[in-house]
Amino acid sequence: MPDAILVTGGAGYIGSHACKALAGAGYLPVAYDNLSRGHRELVRWGPLEEGDLADGRRLAEVLRAHRPAAVLHFAAFIAVGESVREPLLYYRNNVGGALSLLRAMEETGVGTIVFSSTAAVYGDPERVPLTEEDPRRPVNPYGRGKRLIEELLEDQAAARGLRYASLRYFNAAGADPDGETGERHDPETHLIPLVLRAAQRRGAPLTLFGDDYDTPDGTCIRDYIHVSDLAQAHVLAVRSLLAGRPSGAFNLGSGEGYSVREVIEACRRVTGEAIPVTVGPRREGDPPRLVADPSRARQQLGWRPALSDLDTIVRTAWTWCKREAGDARS
Ligand code: UFG
Repeated sequence: MPDAILVTGGAGYIGSHACKALAGAGYLPVAYDNLSRGHRELVRWGPLEEGDLADGRRLAEVLRAHRPAAVLHFAAFIAVGESVREPLLYYRNNVGGALSLLRAMEETGVGTIVFSSTAAVYGDPERVPLTEEDPRRPVNPYGRGKRLIEELLEDQAAARGLRYASLRYFNAAGADPDGETGERHDPETHLIPLVLRAAQRRGAPLTLFGDDYDTPDGTCIRDYIHVSDLAQAHVLAVRSLLAGRPSGAFNLGSGEGYSVREVIEACRRVTGEAIPVTVGPRREGDPPRLVADPSRARQQLGWRPALSDLDTIVRTAWTWCKREAGDARS
């Protein structure tokens, strides 16, 4: 019997890619998802256990039934703007959910967790690239909640010997190169899928949020990392923790920054379509630059992103986007 791994949010974007990577590495991914923002069809590599993170009894029941070697914890709300408008929703769902999960893990004796953290814990950094030692000064409720969960893990590690990895994703993008899963957010707020929809004339032209930043072309710089590379990092983090190597935080980015205009140009090049763009005001809370120094993940986990050049990210996202548009028409 393969080792089971519980994947909260296994029906979501990054969670479903992680399930595929786990299955490829010989684990049995057990998705735990309430399907409020996830999709049943994306659970393809192991069983789906429907349930809410807030439901501690259900969580404990699922943990006892599957006896997972570890938990990958993705389930969370992810929209920064929404977190500013609805802070209680974000603290309750994200922080409350993590608390409930940690309690159920303690109750059932599951002592290893890989947590989906974010570059948003760094806020508006003074310099890039960012190392894990840079200060965590998040600037919105989403990022503050993620920092709080990181701190919860640190406290629980000190008190009870929990083994954890906090994986700080930069900009997750792209889709499974085999086309078996991809990004399906509603509403979609992320740059690359919105640019591709604009290329398909599905939805509005892209609004570029500000071109007067202090960057070479005036638009914000981000570090885009392929979702399948992120998924692979989770497999490596689980293996590392189960082998008894130390807990800690890891930046997951490519180390390369691209401006919004460079992303739009990559989308034009890959799709061969003109991209209708209008320039709008800045979006509140967007730092001008976020770029990772991913050396720690490379050195301690042996992580080597293989699909994270911008054209591969856009090409895989485009294949998925065309399929989704086809599904929407049929
Ligand atoms: N952008 C636009 N127009 C759009 C959408 C985005 O110009 O319609 C710009 C944004 O201003 C930003 C860049 O494209 O400069 C990337 O924006 P995304 O919304 O795709 O991603 P973010 O960098 O805002 O957010 C991502 C994750 C969050 C996470 C954050 C960490 O989606 O979950 O990184 O900083 F919190």
